[in-house]
Amino acid sequence: MIQLKNVVAEYTTKRGRMKAVDGVDLVIPDGVIVGIAGESGCGKSTLMKVLYGDLGFPLSLASGSVDYGFTNDKGQPVTDANVQREWFRHVSIIPQSSMSSLNPVIRIREQFVDFPATSKDKKATLAKVREFVQRIGLPPESIDAYPHQLSGGMRQRIMVALATFLEPEVILADEPTTALDVVVQKEILLLLLELQEKMRNTIIFVSHDMGVHYQLTHQMLIMYAGKAVEHGPTEEIFRAPLHPYTLLLTSALPTIGDDRARQGLPGSPPSLWDPPKGCRFAPRCPLATEKCRTEEPPLVEVRPGHSSACHHIDRIPQLQADLAKAPSLDDLDEARLLAQVQENLRREHEIDATADAAPPSEVDRPEIPSEVADTVAPAGGER
Ligand SMILES: Nc1ncnc2c1ncn2[C@@H]1O[C@H](COP(=O)(O)OP(=O)(O)OP(=O)(O)O)[C@@H](O)[C@H]1O
Ligand code: SF4
Ligand SMILES: [Mg+2]
Repeated sequence: MIQLKNVVAEYTTKRGRMKAVDGVDLVIPDGVIVGIAGESGCGKSTLMKVLYGDLGFPLSLASGSVDYGFTNDKGQPVTDANVQREWFRHVSIIPQSSMSSLNPVIRIREQFVDFPATSKDKKATLAKVREFVQRIGLPPESIDAYPHQLSGGMRQRIMVALATFLEPEVILADEPTTALDVVVQKEILLLLLELQEKMRNTIIFVSHDMGVHYQLTHQMLIMYAGKAVEHGPTEEIFRAPLHPYTLLLTSALPTIGDDRARQGLPGSPPSLWDPPKGCRFAPRCPLATEKCRTEEPPLVEVRPGHSSACHHIDRIPQLQADLAKAPSLDDLDEARLLAQVQENLRREHEIDATADAAPPSEVDRPEIPSEVADTVAPAGGER
């Protein structure tokens, strides 16, 4: 069981310190697949880095702790302070944009024996790796290649192999299939599922694809603006969510035979430099009241194993019923829809023109290294 207690993770930049994960409490039982969802920039990857113990400038754990629920060789409990020694053997990660994490000038086989857990007996490790990569659909000689000699799908399988071949108890997968075509995406996800069924390890999995969460995960954590806003069994998260944000995220998911017009999530998440007081979702929430704008809702267990941070949980079933009454696509006036699309395009054009005319000041902009530039929220939120 992994236990996170009041985890606050900060980035230090020229502009100051910014809390990208702000007070997350979470218990993850052994042997489950947990999905993390939420719009771009809400802190998913930061939480994954904390879970991996990949801390170091600019990211630091401002407060809180992570307890992994097992002991190391010396009999000490594994925590955020010493988890680095367990990398690959007990805890591994498939990082976001992981295809580019392979060192381009080193043959893949060398990347497998470059860790304390594998470097002691390179020959035996490589024999095991050759056998293992075949199990995940790669020829054994693929590990003799340089990364650029393999296709994107093959490189991603190598990343999965790197993270799984020592059969760690905990695998962290941060958007493991982004940038792959749909067929390869499906293959990689099935591969992860198959490995988890065999190894019974815990997988914590970040994705923007709610359909994938529904099919793959046992539990879900919904994050919004650095906060955990809902955590519970995946089936309940979709059928009877306990947070309006979750409801709006999941109700955009189409189902076969249902032709209701989907209501997207209007607006975008707040800046983490200056989050709103009270509930951070209040400016976008259809149920927001004065209390929401002043008092921050705590994350509380509402049903067994299902927690939510919302002042008005009792009003969510009505909101769900209202969303279900959305007009069918056939009922919508085509001319009105077209006018709406044109209006949206015109507004986007205006925003682009304003941005071109007045680029943000260099002084105000936080320093974000180029390797994380692609994790920064695009305007408009959810991809
Ligand atoms: N190295 C960094 N330095 C400064 N700020 C950062 C850094 N990495 C991320 N951030 C900021 O921290 C916040 C959370 O980012 P994070 O990458 O965790 O979000 P995310 O939920 O994974 O987003 P995405 O879905 O786009 O991957 C964002 O505001 C982002 O701009
Ligand atoms: S606390 Fe209020 S604003 Fe926040 S999600 Fe609940 S109803 Fe909406
Ligand atoms: Mg991310």
